[in-house]
Amino acid sequence: MSETRPVSFSDDEARAWQREFPSLAATVHVANCSHGPQSLRVRGAVDAYLDSWLEKGMDWESWIAEIHGAKEAFARLIGAKPTEVALSTSASAAVSSVASALATGGERRRVLTTEAEFPTVGHVWLAHARYGLEVEFIPVRDGAIELNEYEARVDERTLIVSATHVYYQNGFKQDVKRIAGIAHRAGALALVDAYQSLGTCRVDVGELDVDILVSGNQKYLLGVPGVAFVYVKEELVERLEPALTGWFGRVNPFAFDPKTLDYARDARRLETGTPPVFAAAAARAGMELIEEADPGRIEARIDALSAHAIEAAARCGLEYSGPHDVRRKGATTAIRVPEPTRVEGLLKERNVVASARGDVIRIAPHFFTTTEDIDRALDELRSILGRPL
Ligand SMILES: Cc1ncc(COP(=O)(O)O)c(C=O)c1O
Repeated sequence: MSETRPVSFSDDEARAWQREFPSLAATVHVANCSHGPQSLRVRGAVDAYLDSWLEKGMDWESWIAEIHGAKEAFARLIGAKPTEVALSTSASAAVSSVASALATGGERRRVLTTEAEFPTVGHVWLAHARYGLEVEFIPVRDGAIELNEYEARVDERTLIVSATHVYYQNGFKQDVKRIAGIAHRAGALALVDAYQSLGTCRVDVGELDVDILVSGNQKYLLGVPGVAFVYVKEELVERLEPALTGWFGRVNPFAFDPKTLDYARDARRLETGTPPVFAAAAARAGMELIEEADPGRIEARIDALSAHAIEAAARCGLEYSGPHDVRRKGATTAIRVPEPTRVEGLLKERNVVASARGDVIRIAPHFFTTTEDIDRALDELRSILGRPL
């Protein structure tokens, strides 16, 4: 990462960006940890797909070009080559493909993962115990995981360390570069689930030196459900022969030969069936918006908004449940509340879209969020909690 710190957005710049998201005229949207708001750009990309379908009936050439465009956009976002990126339909499916390629019954069979993973990641690894993998979870203590927890557990039996970049529940951000270093020193691989960080900060796979990185697009990448991406480091690609596969993962999908097992030479080998064209078109448009806003500047803005939210929550007498150092934090600021799902509904009635999870309401801004939006969300929360629920 460069030493010069990019300049954060001002509130005026954030307000100008809000014109790209029509719903923001009437609502405060701080649920980006769950789903981003609809942008004109993404709407346009989905409409263009629907138009091409309506007008041409079938237009595989341009639809497949759309898939390539989406992979290129993801690759640019993480500093990878497009040939190191495969398109998938969810983070779950992407991690499952990787797991199915790693469960080969080799000497190394331990998967070290954490209690901070989104449940699907733990679920996928556990499902591969029947193929010989052994799964260990590092506990979350006081909402965080210290690096020595990794150091104490990684050894020559570790096949892979599977760690989330940002904890979906309270926003705790892990130092994935150092986690990857710990894994590599013991000869293990490092996989990062970046679903809660991509779009909020700079992520460069070369700089982080991770082997595999997955993310879907509906959150801070401003896309829609139904599409995800997996990065696999070039040097690792040819070692992965997934059992969870399909014709788009083959050397030539259009050979139409059902009796040969072969894998594309690049990361496309992790793909399965017919790709989700309209979701990929939306994903590409969302990622291009992030690129235009500039992940470095977004990171600076998110840090500033985090500091603002933590301070404002304290001022409102709300119970903040997450790291106080903004460098150890993603975009989410988690506020402990009784009956979070009910509170989420009450906030929505007041035109504040926030997200309940566990025992918290997550206030998760983006580059288009103003400090006034944060204040408004917290004020409404305080007002709701001030009355009997
Ligand atoms: C960190 C993280 N990983 C994975 C997921 C789930 O991904 P998918 O539904 O695409 O499998 C989520 C949330 O939806 C998440 O927050």
